[in-house]
Amino acid sequence: MGSVTDVAMEKGTLAQRKPTVVFVLGGPGSGKGTQCDKIVQHFGFTHISTGDLLRDEIRSGSENGTMIQRMMKEGKMVPPELTIKLLQKAMQECGNDKLLIDGFPRNEENRAAYEAVIKIEPKLVLFLDCSEEEMERRLLNRNQGREDDNIETIRKRFKVFKESTLPVIEYYNSKGKVRKIDAGKPSDEVFEDIKFFFTSTCGNIKHSCCVIL
Ligand code: ADP
Ligand code: C5P
Ligand code: MG
Repeated sequence: MGSVTDVAMEKGTLAQRKPTVVFVLGGPGSGKGTQCDKIVQHFGFTHISTGDLLRDEIRSGSENGTMIQRMMKEGKMVPPELTIKLLQKAMQECGNDKLLIDGFPRNEENRAAYEAVIKIEPKLVLFLDCSEEEMERRLLNRNQGREDDNIETIRKRFKVFKESTLPVIEYYNSKGKVRKIDAGKPSDEVFEDIKFFFTSTCGNIKHSCCVIL
């Protein structure tokens, strides 16, 4: 696949296409990926996980891979310039006009980079709210071979979530965008609540417009 510019010439820029964007936020292990899979199946969104984009970057052997791997192992946030570039490319390459962006923006720096580069206001922010005890249990049982799913890194990730991500959620809450979901319940029950928000707030999500910042 070519550069962001090549793809933009072929598919139109993101600003021209005006996709509907939904951010999916929540602590590590709250079930973001799990619920995104269900939303994709049910509502026809494309799922873009920023954590997955960063892991792909490590696997690709790129020059930034080693640094990203080190940050992830320590539960730290990767520099926003890098994450936003990967996100922009994924959003541009995706032909769908409905995008679920999972695990982003994780902090104020992510949000500022998004507003400067991508400039598409999210239609909704889903906040999967779950206790640390439950998230810890889930992460320790996830079994995907992730280097950051160990108790020491998990505690650091919880701290980053509380200190850096909750303020971002609070920011979108003040703009009336946040839909808070009790994510401590069994997965199908969580999805029932998500369905409610998608059909009530975005019943016409297929035809919804979004605002360019
Ligand atoms: P996140 O993307 O937020 O880190 P995941 O979707 O990867 O979370 O879920 C973390 C782990 O918890 C996975 O093993 C997943 O199967 C499991 N899980 C997800 N949602 C639930 C739920 N509602 N109840 C129990 N386990 C869950
Ligand atoms: O979302 P996920 O749990 O897959 O993220 C794993 C790690 O990827 C985070 O702990 C962090 O190190 C990095 N990350 C990041 N910025 C994001 C998303 C993920 O630095 N927006
Ligand atoms: Mg995930």
